[in-house]
Amino acid sequence: MNSPSASTTTSGRVAQEAERRRTFAVISHPDAGKSTLTEALALHAKMISEAGAIHGKSGRKSTVSDWMEMEKARGISVSSTALQFEYGDCVINLVDTPGHSDFSEDTYRVLTAVDAAVMLIDAAKGLEPQTLKLFQVCRHRGIPVITVINKWDRPGRAPLELLDEISERIGLIPTPLFLPVGIAGDFRGLLRRGEDGAAAEYIHFIRTAGGATIAPEEMFTPEQALEREGEPWETAAEESELLSATGQDHDQEMFLAGQTSPVIYASAMLNFGVRELLDTLVALAPAPGPRADIAGTEREPAEPFSAVVFKVQAGMDAAHRDRLAFMRIVSGEFERGMVVTHAQTGRPFATKYALTVFGRERATVDTAYPGDVVGLVNATALGPGHTLYVDKKVEFPPIPSFAPEHFATLRARSAGKYKQFRKAIDQLDSEGVVQVLRNDLRGDASPVLAAVGPMQFEVVTARMQAEFNVETQLDFLPYQLARRTDSESRAELDRQRGVEVFTRSDGAILALFSDKWRLQYIQKEMPELTLELLVAATD
Ligand code: G4P
Repeated sequence: MNSPSASTTTSGRVAQEAERRRTFAVISHPDAGKSTLTEALALHAKMISEAGAIHGKSGRKSTVSDWMEMEKARGISVSSTALQFEYGDCVINLVDTPGHSDFSEDTYRVLTAVDAAVMLIDAAKGLEPQTLKLFQVCRHRGIPVITVINKWDRPGRAPLELLDEISERIGLIPTPLFLPVGIAGDFRGLLRRGEDGAAAEYIHFIRTAGGATIAPEEMFTPEQALEREGEPWETAAEESELLSATGQDHDQEMFLAGQTSPVIYASAMLNFGVRELLDTLVALAPAPGPRADIAGTEREPAEPFSAVVFKVQAGMDAAHRDRLAFMRIVSGEFERGMVVTHAQTGRPFATKYALTVFGRERATVDTAYPGDVVGLVNATALGPGHTLYVDKKVEFPPIPSFAPEHFATLRARSAGKYKQFRKAIDQLDSEGVVQVLRNDLRGDASPVLAAVGPMQFEVVTARMQAEFNVETQLDFLPYQLARRTDSESRAELDRQRGVEVFTRSDGAILALFSDKWRLQYIQKEMPELTLELLVAATD
């Protein structure tokens, strides 16, 4: 037999490595338990010996990034990072979404870098606004969703009622893999559903002090479970059959198509259901697949290296005021130090400083594979949506900019700082921190900033001060929504009351409206005008 050539062995290795990766993000409303779940996952992966080392509430040891005083003051993390760990034969990449109640474009961009999402729901609260918005983005992008109903150790709603809410409000069919034994507040364990909803197994959890260590599990047969738990077991078994009768059993194809969602009941705080979530990710979540480029040609994971930048972040740490571009590897093997091509400029790009970042922890990355997230240091030319590649040229479609809902003008308080101010605006714009709009009437001295969430403005003013030493004045504008228009419609729109037209730095022409009634009126009176919806989470 001929020995395989070097390139076939590389692509074989890459295919194998890609196959064992699972890259996902948790989508949730604040307080649903995302940080607690992240800790619990890390604990299961044995990265940390005791839960509480990652998220810094209640004075526990904190490794949450405090790149800005603003973050510290609020006790939140604005920065998105990625956590990688091995679990069994798999490599799990958990890409973190910003943890604040506010939205920013970053939250959406993270979802362009993952292959699956875990929708985390508080058992007492059900679906909440931010979860809904993020779910819509997943749907829009065709990302399969696994549902975790958290805080089952606390009084909450009935298990099936929560499932009904999911199917009724978002049209996603929940297909539980596990049902809770014991009502919310009396969480004893999980019933694993088998063929046709028949109870396959009882997983009984044993509490540990403060949920600080992995909760030991005891497995029982359904017969033993009935004897041990009595009525709560019977209820769970009946509910399981009921779900089968309405067709709510797992179907892999429907899950991957985003029509159904496997459900797990859990308590992130007590580490109940966390192993089950990891096993589900391994068994059901998709491995990195091919990605279509702008011409529609698919880049397969085993092809030469390519990656998409999904997020740029600066000034994460006062000690190193650097700028990190996070890329998600689409294909091939990444080796630190390799020279790649930046598709947007055609220029070579050296990757000497490649990192993984989680919280304050930074580690050098030497090799990485499809699905992995790598931070490149001081990657000034890179912006969200940019492509890097070697060998065979590829350019992936840009990340859509989401519909802004908040608008403000920004100006330097001191005229003497104008030059720095302009430089800073260009920098923040290229990083995608905020959208920058201009028109001739307003000029360049006080550009209009457009944001998906108002916290983006705070990031801008804080960075203006801290990094560029420019004090700024932010004034909100009375606009509530934006539509994309074109140069033909522009003149007419400019004449309308309650409307102002701008050019965004990517060349898009945006019309801002004072409110939806104004927009509706104009659409009705002048149907010939181009007024397109921008990509919005709520479309
Ligand atoms: P977030 O990142 O989604 O915003 O939520 P986070 O994990 O910070 O959790 C929010 C609150 O909910 C925390 O309480 C946390 O302890 C609690 N929590 C998370 N998961 C569970 C769970 O499974 N069961 C119960 N009972 N509580 C849970 P806190 O009082 O705000 O903070 P802390 O003092 O407990 O750290």
